[in-house]
Amino acid sequence: MTRSPNKLIPADFRTVPGLDALDATSVHLGAPSDAEAIGIGIHTDGDVPDAVGFSREQLADAGFTGDAGSTLVMPQAGAAALVAVGLGARDELSSDVLRDAAANVVRAAARSEKVAIRLFGPIAVEPDAVVRALVEGALLARYRYTVLSNVSRHVALKSLTVDVPGVGEAADAVEQGVVGARAAIVARDLANTPPGHLTATDMGDIAVELGSRFGFDVELFDKQVLIDLGCGGLLGVNQGSTEEPRMIKLSYAPTGEASGHLGLVGKGIMYDSGGISLKPSDPMHLLMKMDMGGAAAVLGTFTALRDAGVEAKVTGWLMCTDNMPSGTAYKLGDVLTARGGTTIEVKNTDAEGRLVMSDALVLANEDGVDAIIDIATLTGAALVSLGGATAPVFGNDQSTVDLVRAASAAVDEPVWQLPLEKKYRKQLDSDIADIANLGGPFAGATTAALFLAHFVGETPWAHLDIAGTMQTEKDDSWRTAGATGFGARILLEAARNFAAKA
Ligand code: BES
Ligand code: ZN
Ligand code: ZN
Repeated sequence: MTRSPNKLIPADFRTVPGLDALDATSVHLGAPSDAEAIGIGIHTDGDVPDAVGFSREQLADAGFTGDAGSTLVMPQAGAAALVAVGLGARDELSSDVLRDAAANVVRAAARSEKVAIRLFGPIAVEPDAVVRALVEGALLARYRYTVLSNVSRHVALKSLTVDVPGVGEAADAVEQGVVGARAAIVARDLANTPPGHLTATDMGDIAVELGSRFGFDVELFDKQVLIDLGCGGLLGVNQGSTEEPRMIKLSYAPTGEASGHLGLVGKGIMYDSGGISLKPSDPMHLLMKMDMGGAAAVLGTFTALRDAGVEAKVTGWLMCTDNMPSGTAYKLGDVLTARGGTTIEVKNTDAEGRLVMSDALVLANEDGVDAIIDIATLTGAALVSLGGATAPVFGNDQSTVDLVRAASAAVDEPVWQLPLEKKYRKQLDSDIADIANLGGPFAGATTAALFLAHFVGETPWAHLDIAGTMQTEKDDSWRTAGATGFGARILLEAARNFAAKA
């Protein structure tokens, strides 16, 4: 997928290269025929499969015990290398262990284009879930953003074979694994793309292309339309930028009658300099190209809804602009008027995410959605409180929060519910406007969530703050260094289950 670039960017620049790589990977079930590396799952207990060719004692002598996450590569003369991969205790096997195992095989065989993964029974996890987890783990682990590197030695995966007893024709499970991986890979690519290569306008154009390929409608709202709509939050943040803002509305409808209507809102700050409240030039600032990670997760999710067979209607709002300081930038003390008329005193221009989200939450309500899930790289406080592995989730409705929690557990992207503590709401009181965009020095993730809650009103709602989990420094099983795509698979799983629930 290419787009019309500015003159500094080559005409063939790929905006979502991970999709090309995914298209070029053939994934099938059955015996490995031409694999260059064959991973074989081994538990810490029970028999070692004959295919390994070594006894448990011999493997132990080589330092391999079958612990979950461990691998041992055994080159073979004139044949595919064998990769022993630990599955831990037989009675503790889960989708998470399998997803990790597949990822670890693919990592251990990093130079192999054709990889197979074999399991030998009995397997306590349901066959479709086994296949899905293996495919997803392998595809996500081999992801890398190489499109701008002339020196990358990354080897793309050309084929993946999954050989598991008792799966029969689990073609749909293979497809579901690919679809889950796709959601996260699209989100990773967009967040990894440098800010100069991905403006709000580009993001809109990419959404249009993805929509026509993956079966959802896309409506682009430019600056003038946003003025007409009174989206003062997004427009206020955009004021300092030479780039136009975009609100990108995504609409998915199932073929049959919809079982409910889910709204997804994503923060799309293409680059967060802090604005007039300029951020310091520390390493954190370098990550601010990923401040559109929420919007990227929502767009990634939309590429999966049709093929995942989601039965709910899903509408998404991506609120895209960068946040820049300049002579035209919004200032501390300014008052913005959000869609719906709420006036907001700007006490810090770096608390911009909540401003762009406010318009979208009001629009989602106007659209009559049954529930809203929003996702945003909203606060440094989320990172401080829960670190890089776990995202805080807040909400005004326990069943919507629980929908997110269950989805998170199913896809192994951890979340933890924090209280939407009403006692802190008065920190957002303003002397001159309806609300201020800045709370006190403590519980910053909570005061940001309370700000959003003001615009949500009574609609069942959950809010994911992915500031901590949007990126990782190191490869770790299926998580790859750089943008993680965190949340895309949570939202997909939540949309699947929302259909079942509504
Ligand atoms: N985009 C940042 C939050 C962020 C921080 C994301 C670190 C990823 C990693 C957000 O716009 C921001 O700057 N928030 C401020 C809010 C504060 C001024 C109330 C923050 O968290 O410091
Ligand atoms: Zn900011
Ligand atoms: Zn931000």
